[in-house]
Amino acid sequence: MPQPRAAVILAAGLGTRMKSDLPKCAHAVAGRPMVQWAIDLARQSGADRIVTVYGKKSPQIAALGEAVGTETALQDPPLGTGHAVRAAEDALKGFEGDVIVLYGDTPLITPSTVSRVFEALQGGASVAVLGFEPEDAAAYGRLIENEAGELERIVEFKDANAEERAVRLCNSGVMAGNARLMFELLSEVTNDNANKEYYLTDVVGLARGRGLKAVAVRGDEAEVLGVNSRADLAEAEAAWQARKRAEVMKEGATLIAPDTVWFGYDTKIGRDVLIEPNVFFGPGVTVEDNAVIHGFSHLEGCTVRNGAHVGPFVRLRPAADIGPKAKVGNFVEVKKSTLGEGAKASHLSYIGDAEVGANANIGAGTITCNYDGFGKSKTVIGEGAFIGSNSSLVAPVTIGAGAYTGSGSVVTDDVPADALALARAKQANKEGWASRFRAAMTKRKGEG
Ligand code: UD1
Ligand code: MG
Repeated sequence: MPQPRAAVILAAGLGTRMKSDLPKCAHAVAGRPMVQWAIDLARQSGADRIVTVYGKKSPQIAALGEAVGTETALQDPPLGTGHAVRAAEDALKGFEGDVIVLYGDTPLITPSTVSRVFEALQGGASVAVLGFEPEDAAAYGRLIENEAGELERIVEFKDANAEERAVRLCNSGVMAGNARLMFELLSEVTNDNANKEYYLTDVVGLARGRGLKAVAVRGDEAEVLGVNSRADLAEAEAAWQARKRAEVMKEGATLIAPDTVWFGYDTKIGRDVLIEPNVFFGPGVTVEDNAVIHGFSHLEGCTVRNGAHVGPFVRLRPAADIGPKAKVGNFVEVKKSTLGEGAKASHLSYIGDAEVGANANIGAGTITCNYDGFGKSKTVIGEGAFIGSNSSLVAPVTIGAGAYTGSGSVVTDDVPADALALARAKQANKEGWASRFRAAMTKRKGEG
């Protein structure tokens, strides 16, 4: 019978090997803090009670847990992974069901893998551990199985002898069991080991000591990479990106050079989207079907609608909404602005806090002057308006539908629909001035 599920997310460790002021599990993969990857995994695996364990030196972790709706528990001081799970005991008081422990430094595990660990419990094991056989077993804890293929104990690398170190099956950190049993076993764990820590991993030996069954569920090395250093973090990022690129292509987008396109954790890419080389997606981007993202563009918090073209060298910042078939070209920055269907800003512009109507044309070098050092003001550009090159639109200002602004204008007043606004010095031509000037200068040079 499937039991109710809870999860304890361990993220109180200091992560000294990161050499960082930021707690390890607050470091991000694909723009999302690692601890939130673990929380998301727990939720997707059916855990409806989730406790995030944080340390006194890592209040950021508690905030990240609360931000996504988990309970939190303080572990102070951090005395090991077993001690950390015990910190969540009060929060889970009265909970009847299975609990899974996930580490906040292992961001690549998938929900289907976690489901297999829970299923091992339904299959009769009291404790189930996710193991893997890495290319390089390094300093991971080793899973020791008996001849029957059941798990006997876990030995930490530092405490392992040569024979145990030769075992290739390693501990990922994921462990599940009946909640009441787990907390009971944890109360018996001591810190009699090389690290003087209370190891979660000792739970397996204790369960076996009671004649209970423990099993290792095999997982893929690529999923269980634990991040302990900046180099590991980069490796996790690369692995996640490779997975996401494959998924995006499988769903029908073309990536000309997949290895040069970087996605955010929540990037949504539609069908028949073409993404050229060297594009970066921060969090919160949706690209609808048939859009083209040309090379060297940087997008975050924005929407690119059906059939729009963006780039090359475009920066789309939060709340940029590029309408269907609209075009945003070379060296254009857009922030908190909506471009209507078929609108164009093809060259060298800043468009901020603006509403641009359908089919409007924004000439090269147009700037919305939206900020006066204190507040932001809005620019409204009507449908089919034509903004002459190098116009400065001093917000708040409205350009009516179908209106023109003369190139180089500094527009401070609203422009009525279908009018032409000229806001620049009138041109004066001085006949023959240049030849007189040249003659005078040549003469002076000869005398000097
Ligand atoms: C741990 C496992 C090891 C496994 C490896 C997989 C133990 C004893 N060892 O080792 O068998 O192969 O993970 O990556 O469990 N944490 C706390 N409080 C603490 C200590 C740690 O919350 O007091 C958290 C950390 O923030 C981290 C996780 O637990 O998210 C793992 O801690 P870490 O120090 O990285 O353990 P490893 O040495 O990697
Ligand atoms: Mg670790």
